[in-house]
Amino acid sequence: MGMVKYFPLALLISFALVCLVRAQDQSGFISLDSGLPANTSYTDQITGLYYISDASFINTGISKSISPDFRKSIFQEPLWTVRSFPDGLRNCYYINLTAGNRYLIRGTFMYGNYDGQGQVPDFDLYLGANMWDSVKLGQPSDIIYKEIIHVSSLNYIHVCLVNTGSGTPFISALELRPLGNDIYVTQSGSLALLTRWDTGATTNQTIRYKDDVYDRIWWPISYYRWTELNTNLDIKQFNDYRLPSSVMTTAATPIIANSSLDISVTAGNDTTQCYFYMHFAEVEKLQANQSRVINISLNGNQWYGPFSPEYLSSTTIYSKNFSTGDQHVSIYKTESSTLPPILNAFEVYKVIELRQSETGQEEVTAIMDIKSLYSITKNWQGDPCAPKEYSWEGLNCSYNDSNTPRIISLNLSSSGLTGEIAPYISNLTMLKILDLSNNNLTGPIPDFLSQLPFLTVLNLERNNLTGSVSVELIQRSNNGSLLLSVGENPNLCTSLSCEKKKNNIIIPVVASAVGGLFILLLIAAAIILIIKRRKQQGLVTVSFEVNNRSEQLESKKHQFTYADILRITNNFERVLGKGGFGIVYHGYLDGTQVAVKMLSPSSVQGYKEFHTEANLLMRVHHRNLTAFVGNCDDGTNLGLIYEYMVNGDLASQVSDQNAYILSWEVRLRIALEAAQGLEYLHNGCKPPIIHRDVKSTNILLNENYQAKIADFGLSKIFATDDANATHLSTRVVGTPGYLDPEYYTTNWLTEKSDVYSFGIVLLEIVTSRPAILKRPENAHISRWVSSILAKADIKRIVDPRLQANFNINSAWKVVDLAMACVSETATTRPTMSQVVMDLKQCLEVEIARTMENDETKSKDSIPEFGLNFTTGLRPTAR
Ligand SMILES: *[C@@H]1O[C@H](CO)[C@@H](O)[C@H](O)[C@H]1NC(C)=O
Ligand SMILES: *[C@@H]1O[C@H](CO)[C@@H](O)[C@H](O)[C@H]1NC(C)=O
Ligand SMILES: *[C@@H]1O[C@H](CO)[C@@H](O)[C@H](O)[C@H]1NC(C)=O
Ligand SMILES: *[C@@H]1O[C@H](CO)[C@@H](O)[C@H](O)[C@H]1NC(C)=O
Ligand SMILES: *[C@@H]1O[C@H](CO)[C@@H](O)[C@H](O)[C@H]1NC(C)=O
Ligand SMILES: *[C@@H]1O[C@H](CO)[C@@H](O)[C@H](O)[C@H]1NC(C)=O
Ligand SMILES: *[C@@H]1O[C@H](CO)[C@@H](O)[C@H](O)[C@H]1NC(C)=O
Ligand SMILES: *[C@@H]1O[C@H](CO)[C@@H](O)[C@H](O)[C@H]1NC(C)=O
Ligand SMILES: *[C@@H]1O[C@H](CO)[C@@H](O)[C@H](O)[C@H]1NC(C)=O
Ligand SMILES: *[C@@H]1O[C@H](CO)[C@@H](O)[C@H](O)[C@H]1NC(C)=O
Repeated sequence: MGMVKYFPLALLISFALVCLVRAQDQSGFISLDSGLPANTSYTDQITGLYYISDASFINTGISKSISPDFRKSIFQEPLWTVRSFPDGLRNCYYINLTAGNRYLIRGTFMYGNYDGQGQVPDFDLYLGANMWDSVKLGQPSDIIYKEIIHVSSLNYIHVCLVNTGSGTPFISALELRPLGNDIYVTQSGSLALLTRWDTGATTNQTIRYKDDVYDRIWWPISYYRWTELNTNLDIKQFNDYRLPSSVMTTAATPIIANSSLDISVTAGNDTTQCYFYMHFAEVEKLQANQSRVINISLNGNQWYGPFSPEYLSSTTIYSKNFSTGDQHVSIYKTESSTLPPILNAFEVYKVIELRQSETGQEEVTAIMDIKSLYSITKNWQGDPCAPKEYSWEGLNCSYNDSNTPRIISLNLSSSGLTGEIAPYISNLTMLKILDLSNNNLTGPIPDFLSQLPFLTVLNLERNNLTGSVSVELIQRSNNGSLLLSVGENPNLCTSLSCEKKKNNIIIPVVASAVGGLFILLLIAAAIILIIKRRKQQGLVTVSFEVNNRSEQLESKKHQFTYADILRITNNFERVLGKGGFGIVYHGYLDGTQVAVKMLSPSSVQGYKEFHTEANLLMRVHHRNLTAFVGNCDDGTNLGLIYEYMVNGDLASQVSDQNAYILSWEVRLRIALEAAQGLEYLHNGCKPPIIHRDVKSTNILLNENYQAKIADFGLSKIFATDDANATHLSTRVVGTPGYLDPEYYTTNWLTEKSDVYSFGIVLLEIVTSRPAILKRPENAHISRWVSSILAKADIKRIVDPRLQANFNINSAWKVVDLAMACVSETATTRPTMSQVVMDLKQCLEVEIARTMENDETKSKDSIPEFGLNFTTGLRPTAR
């Protein structure tokens, strides 16, 4: 029990000892001798304080030495050099400290004719965003100290010198001293020192470190009505003010024993708030018949007392509340006291309200990082936004009364920037305007720029950026929410076609919850197996190889004359088919097969429109859209040239009349690819392109059975002379069997009309039956499917030639999806993005199944992944 009892006490004592040692060895002190050459330091002979150069705390200013005349007359080495700021309105020190700790911050100023001008300047001193004080020097030899006791909420402070037009600001020394957190506490604001007196001092020397562990400077003061009392004994310190013994061993007392010690403080005007700190210690050993009882009044009112100072022990009496205006303190003895009053030391501070908050720390960090990355000089010092009149050049901020300022605009145009676009910009989340034009920036345009929610102007002109402009930025630009300028970047791809390269990398399988690498391995294994197996079975093989041919063609796209067309088609030698807008011929362009669609003149609405639209189509690129090679606009001969799709259209390939049987997996892949093409038209193009004529004959297959959408965008400009395909109006609005029923009522085509048509295509893919059946006669495929669905018999819906060789869950899901697409009301149909996602899942399931099958067949080389792809895919109750 005893041990437990004494343990806390032991702790307390050792803690006090640690503190004492800490403060004695200047730990936490920051002592900057301004103007000292970089990386140099010294220990001051008088104070023992260790001073270092200020060079690493400020980027600006020049080092100067005071005139030798003045150096002779002072002993303090820190005053021998100054840092002078001939350039810039505001120059700032940036000093790391511990947020939430109380610091005494002191600037020292002695002109000493350092510039040989003999003109003593006046200037202002700021602490962060707020005015701290004005520095007014009378004589070249004047030494001015500006002290403030401050608690920073940030882990740094800016101390700034501001040129007010009365000469060049300079500073001699800048010091920070950590204080105890229980002393000099205010209700609000920070405490700027007005006076700190060592009353009753017997010398005319100031007292500071090492006598004062906090390095407060105590000025000796005497008055003709006062006399001194002192002791040779130490004054013990039992409070946190830790007053220096040398200050406390001397006390002032009035010469006339029964009069008072009076102190008047003029602190400014009536609104100035002051805090008083009075320090007492009895320095005389009183006799039994002696007493010293003190009463204190403030402005004539009783303030504190009566009390007797303790012998050789400090007592600090301070105003807990502030008082305002001129102050008159009177310290007097009570009637019963046999001895006059005493006062050992006295401090007065005025409150400085630091009302202007500084820019948020995250933004400051970001902009400081940008500053150092690009080595920006400008006037980028101190707080970026505050105070407003000194905010950084090229920055605009929002100031909402009490809120912290936010950076809303950053203009670094023509600033000689090199390297990549700084990632730190992503943390300037309130940015509305970003101008990085006319620099030497390289590398890609980072994605985060499209994530900045408020960005309305982005200027990247005249740089050397590479890569491509993201779809998001182009979309924001196209819909008017972003003013985007990217011109004169010679190696930057600025069109939508750049998206193509990106897309080619995407494997058409979602890596949802499973590791991406596993998926890749799976696919690789799947491809090998599928190809192997298909070869054995004599079925169609599928490959994931990216088809480079269309890219080769695209690079040569241009306008063709009618003579070119004749040469390409060898005088229209071979007809491939007859489409909605004319006849399609086979041809060769530079050895590559192409399809040339010659438009029947009667179908073209207007030549100008044709031209505009053809140019638009040239800019639309996707691996699941037939590549547009060029056009011919030669008199009345209008033609469009596309890549040639060897395997023709989906309608004939999937039909049960075709001898080849497309496997379930190939069907899913074709469906997914076609869906991706449509999804791109809807979401990847601005304005969105509505196909208006989605049908299985408009989905073409290349030699790898890769599906591509054809004839997109055409219905907008062309009428048709295909009697079979038109009714309702002279303009093409679709093909019977595929036409959105809601169109009849609203007369309004939307993306959802394409979704409806795609749903019909999906049903064709599943069933291998046409949109309008021959048996039962002229029945619509959707009616037929839903009648069988009512019996929940999926096997009768799917092409019977597949002989149940498919994952039943994925079949259910595709049919569900198709039925959702052909819903009567447009709003209940899914979007193409949803369709793409669902089809990807179905394809995953099927790939997993075929892999399993192959695994059971050839156990030799297949790794076991143990992935359950079928989770969440079940036939739904209907
Ligand atoms: C100061 O020291 C730093 C790091 O040690 C060095 O990079 C810098 O060049 C030095 N500056 C001078 C003026 O010596
Ligand atoms: C201030 O602290 C930061 C890290 O918080 C550091 O990168 C920087 O160098 C420090 N500055 C000085 C002058 O010590
Ligand atoms: C300081 O005190 C010394 C003696 O203690 C005296 O000679 C000197 O004149 C004083 N200086 C001032 C400026 O009062
Ligand atoms: C102070 O004492 C003197 C005599 O010692 C006396 O004349 C005077 O009235 C006293 N003043 C006060 C304010 O008590
Ligand atoms: C008092 O002085 C402060 C500056 O010290 C000033 O802002 C304020 O307006 C003054 N108030 C009056 C009433 O003069
Ligand atoms: C106090 O006592 C001392 C002797 O101890 C005596 O000399 C002195 O006169 C007394 N003073 C008063 C005010 O009674
Ligand atoms: C102290 O001063 C106040 C007001 O000046 C007075 O009311 C009070 O009586 C004094 N106390 C003593 C013990 O003299
Ligand atoms: C953005 O700020 C956060 C939080 O301060 C930081 O963790 C992140 O590294 C910053 N991002 C960049 C790119 O600097
Ligand atoms: C880019 O750098 C080159 C050479 O370094 C320089 O000639 C050119 O002026 C710079 N351009 C800009 C806009 O800063
Ligand atoms: C632009 O960058 C490329 C390398 O990416 C370089 O070859 C070229 O000289 C740069 N152009 C300019 C004007 O700096």
